[in-house]
Amino acid sequence: MKKAFVIGHPIAHSRSPLIHNFWLDELSIQGSYEKIDVAPADLEQFLQAAQNDGFVGGNVTIPHKEAARSLAANVTEIAGTLGAANTLYIGENGWDATNTDGYGFLANLDAEAPGWDNQKSNAVIIGAGGASRAIIYALLQRGFAKIHLLNRTLSRAEQLADIFGPRIHPAALDTLPNHLSDANILVNTSSMGMQGQPPLTIDLSQLNKTALVTDIVYTPLVTGLLKAADAQGNPTVDGLGMLLHQAVPGFEKWFGARPTVSKALRTHILHHINSSNAQ
Ligand code: ATR
Repeated sequence: MKKAFVIGHPIAHSRSPLIHNFWLDELSIQGSYEKIDVAPADLEQFLQAAQNDGFVGGNVTIPHKEAARSLAANVTEIAGTLGAANTLYIGENGWDATNTDGYGFLANLDAEAPGWDNQKSNAVIIGAGGASRAIIYALLQRGFAKIHLLNRTLSRAEQLADIFGPRIHPAALDTLPNHLSDANILVNTSSMGMQGQPPLTIDLSQLNKTALVTDIVYTPLVTGLLKAADAQGNPTVDGLGMLLHQAVPGFEKWFGARPTVSKALRTHILHHINSSNAQ
């Protein structure tokens, strides 16, 4: 039986086991995917022992994404550029590490809004953390000509512009309305709008009417940003699909079958999110 893990600290609230166990069931694969709480001081030892303990790989979440990338024997170009890994699998010399967040972002939009990338002159991204990096990488790879990167702390956006080059235009968050009229896509990668976090309140009246609006926040599923965009008639895609799609490449590596992101999987995860919120 093939075994995979998700490690983090804390890890109790990870939804990844719900996704992978759904696919193991659906595809009738004898395998397991378990949550393991690993403290930062124990990460190296855990990874050294894991292959002998029968693990074929796993996911890595906060706070281990940077350390996992450093401890891996081999790193894909994307994990190297992002400085963070979320997926480990057996390589020739130990663990190989990659990052599937950017893939999940693109695959979600390709599935939910086909043709979303027909116009790619301008993207607007809110936030400059780890998720933002993966999405910048993905949009550049897709061929976007210009990315306005808006962040509360301007220096963090400027740092990402240094890493990703001249297509990135960093700016302070309060300049957002100036960048909306020619946006082809508007993405929130910040935690604003998440349950328990401050709301993201922006005036979208200047937004290009055809701009796709998407959010990485998926609790609530329909964020204030998505509601406001929808009310203006803009196309929207929620963030749950990114979580589901980013899990596909890891599952395929570990268990040898490519799973699908279906309506049934979405319903299953939403059910769990809603019932855990109700507790
Ligand atoms: P992640 O790795 O998940 O992207 P992160 O590195 O903590 O998380 O980044 C969170 C992002 O949300 C940052 O861009 C942060 O802005 P700062 O760089 O200025 O901290 C943004 N963010 C979080 N709370 C915010 C708030 N109340 N107002 C504005 N931006 C906020």
